Amino acid sequence: MTPPVIEVRALLKTYGHGDSEVRALGGPRDPATGRQPGVELLVEQGDFVAVMGSSGSGKSTLMNILGCLDVPTSGRYLLDGIDVGGLDEHQLSLVRNRKIGFVFQSFNLVPRTSAVAQVELPLAYAGVKAAERRRRAVAALTLVGLADRLDHRPNELSGGQQQRVAVARALVTAPAMLLADEPTGNLDSHSTEEVLALVDRLNASGRTVVLITHEDEVARHAKRVLRLVDGQIVEDVRQAPVGGPPPAMRGAAHAVAGGLR
Ligand SMILES: Nc1ncnc2c1ncn2[C@@H]1O[C@H](COP(=O)(O)OP(=O)(O)O)[C@@H](O)[C@H]1O
Ligand SMILES: [Mg+2]
Repeated sequence: MTPPVIEVRALLKTYGHGDSEVRALGGPRDPATGRQPGVELLVEQGDFVAVMGSSGSGKSTLMNILGCLDVPTSGRYLLDGIDVGGLDEHQLSLVRNRKIGFVFQSFNLVPRTSAVAQVELPLAYAGVKAAERRRRAVAALTLVGLADRLDHRPNELSGGQQQRVAVARALVTAPAMLLADEPTGNLDSHSTEEVLALVDRLNASGRTVVLITHEDEVARHAKRVLRLVDGQIVEDVRQAPVGGPPPAMRGAAHAVAGGLR
């Protein structure tokens, strides 16, 4: 049995103390028992989860904890079977590098750096040798449809292409999940479709995807939609996603993605 990619138990996150305490994740304290319900979440391998919620509902807090960028106030988080609660900063950085592919709204590409060099970066941190780095980076850029843009710098690429470079960079380490925060938030509708079609294809080939969005059009691509209100998951529904290749194509997508591992 493979462990869930995400297992979250009784997770609470508060900012500040005393009167200025802000509860970002978890429910209100029961005045009678003093108990506070935490967030519970299981995400299995291969799922595609959209996290929705209005501003201030706790999406970024959850994303930061799932991405091992921040720690909960209490509760447990197992990422791909690893209890990250006991890890120090260095160990966390290794877990982030190996297990998570981040995609941000603002792309976060390095200026004046070629696409292939951007995608090689996480492999350099992971200690992969130069020739192997280049081979894997080219494979990742080929997978996102940018084999003919290897030497292009961010300012020579469209927004959609820049985000596809960011997706290639997120994928190149073969992470346990893609964690995307409003990945199409800075894109026009054409580029949004381009990036979502790519995410659909990656999920169809077996990648686990957790995507934060406030747009229904984006969430429609997911297989499962979570809704956060005031730091609590109030809705967790499965749906037939739009997009995604027809079943006959899935084997082919898998074969291409397999070349990355
Ligand atoms: N660093 C912080 N210090 C204090 N309060 C914070 C901090 N970050 C977030 N919050 C509060 O936690 C709640 C959830 O915020 P956030 O996770 O950013 O929501 P969302 O991403 O859904 O807009 C909000 O009430 C917000 O004001
Ligand atoms: Mg936010």
